Amino acid sequence: MRFGVMETKNYWVEKLALVLGMLVLAAGVDRTQFPPDFLFGTSTSYYQIEGGYLDDNKGLSNWDVFTHIPGKIKDGSNGDMADDHYHRYMDDIDLMQSLGVNSYRFSISWSRILPRGRFGEVNSEGISFYNKLLDALLLKGIQPFVTLCHYDIPQELEDRYGAWLSSQIQEDFAYYAEICFKEFGEKVKYWGTFNEPNVMIDKGYRFGTYPPSRCSEPYGYCSAGDSDIEPFIAAHNVILSHANAVDIYKNKYQEKQGGSIGIVMSTTWFVPYMDTPIHRMAAKRATAFELAWFLDPIILGAYPPEMVEILGSKLPAFSSNDKLKLRRTMDFIGVNHYTAMYAKDCKFALCNDLSHYESTGYTLRIGFRDGVPIGPTTDMPDFYVTPYGLENIVLQVMERYNNMPMIITENGYAQKSSINLSAKDFVNDEGRIHFLTSYLSSLSSAIRKGADVRGYFIWSIIDNFEWLYGYSLRFGLYHVDYNTMQRTPKLSAKWYSEFLKGCPNITTVVSNMSKPRRLLM
Ligand code: FCB
Repeated sequence: MRFGVMETKNYWVEKLALVLGMLVLAAGVDRTQFPPDFLFGTSTSYYQIEGGYLDDNKGLSNWDVFTHIPGKIKDGSNGDMADDHYHRYMDDIDLMQSLGVNSYRFSISWSRILPRGRFGEVNSEGISFYNKLLDALLLKGIQPFVTLCHYDIPQELEDRYGAWLSSQIQEDFAYYAEICFKEFGEKVKYWGTFNEPNVMIDKGYRFGTYPPSRCSEPYGYCSAGDSDIEPFIAAHNVILSHANAVDIYKNKYQEKQGGSIGIVMSTTWFVPYMDTPIHRMAAKRATAFELAWFLDPIILGAYPPEMVEILGSKLPAFSSNDKLKLRRTMDFIGVNHYTAMYAKDCKFALCNDLSHYESTGYTLRIGFRDGVPIGPTTDMPDFYVTPYGLENIVLQVMERYNNMPMIITENGYAQKSSINLSAKDFVNDEGRIHFLTSYLSSLSSAIRKGADVRGYFIWSIIDNFEWLYGYSLRFGLYHVDYNTMQRTPKLSAKWYSEFLKGCPNITTVVSNMSKPRRLLM
């Protein structure tokens, strides 16, 4: 844990209350609180684990190119090798089997299937890799949940027409999605079109920290881009690409293959910075600009009123043809959830941070208030331990979208790493167990209140490449030694398997653990 703030009396009182609250929650959760057919799994994505970045005719993805630009990744690393899962997937499936999960969420590398998008051949070796992976999972009774685009695209599409800024990408995504449905659809019951398009667009086109590094001041310092306009154009193309894929799946494949399709969103539970009307309104706007930005058009057919009011004609319009496609409803909402944040109003009062004006709905997302964090800090900047956020966000989504089925597609906890540390420094991950149990308890409460939640996936099965943080953060239930590629179970892996076995009271595992150690400051 990092405590970079004034350690005031208030701070410690709030912190103690939160930790106590967390323990109380953790004490009461077990497998029987979830439906028998509930999906319990772990999540990954192609770029973060596969490696084999040039193997078997794979093309370059935007992340392959981006991570090779000096200075982009904190520890100077990249995903060329990552966890070498491309060659070790059988071993990793064995790990899943030993956990006792019934499902596994992973993403397909678009550039492994179509190295040059629709401008080149389908790569049969890419098809064969994912078929082998799917077969091996099914053989072990593990249901695949497949994401089509987890931030990555073939670099060729960026170079040819500027990726998400061009409506041409809609055709490319439809072409790619259909190949996947055709080749893998008999084996896949859960399809996610996109992972966190809200993050992909925000970081790629507003703040410029992810590829294609586009932004304008004061949002960031990029060589090109327009943070007030481009995020909305790029998002519009994502929404219509999603709609195309759903349309194709529903028209041609769903009946025959019997699967379901949805989109996976990053969600934050926004707490008003102060309990006053202006900050309560800011929290509503923050949700609209983060989540409803995509889900409202996809589910309700139009951009959220909170955005229309502020952005007006800066929001692209849907043609009557687009609207027809959007009427095809998807089957579930994938919810990635890690943290709550304060939402601070910047509409009625000026915020110091100049980058939170119109494009972000005049709200500032902030983790601290008067020097006190919203919850215990974790090693991932801006991720706090706020289990109540999961119940609240699930209930909020349930209400706004008429209780459409939801799957919690990611939830997890980071440990900070450095080259001097080894497996033994990470395996006693009590912090992760407390985090997961408290969030699961919060989820079971949302289910008791009527939310139609069908599954829960932990991020992640193994430590992996954490985007801008490279290998300096570890989210895995299994530790990965990046020199030998050896996987070592952490205590949380033991906890998850006990939990899944229906161990009546997981507190036995928790209380058997050694005293928490504070390894990393
Ligand atoms: C999510 C991403 C996932 C992983 C976790 C920690 O936002 O979808 O790839 O990096 O954060």
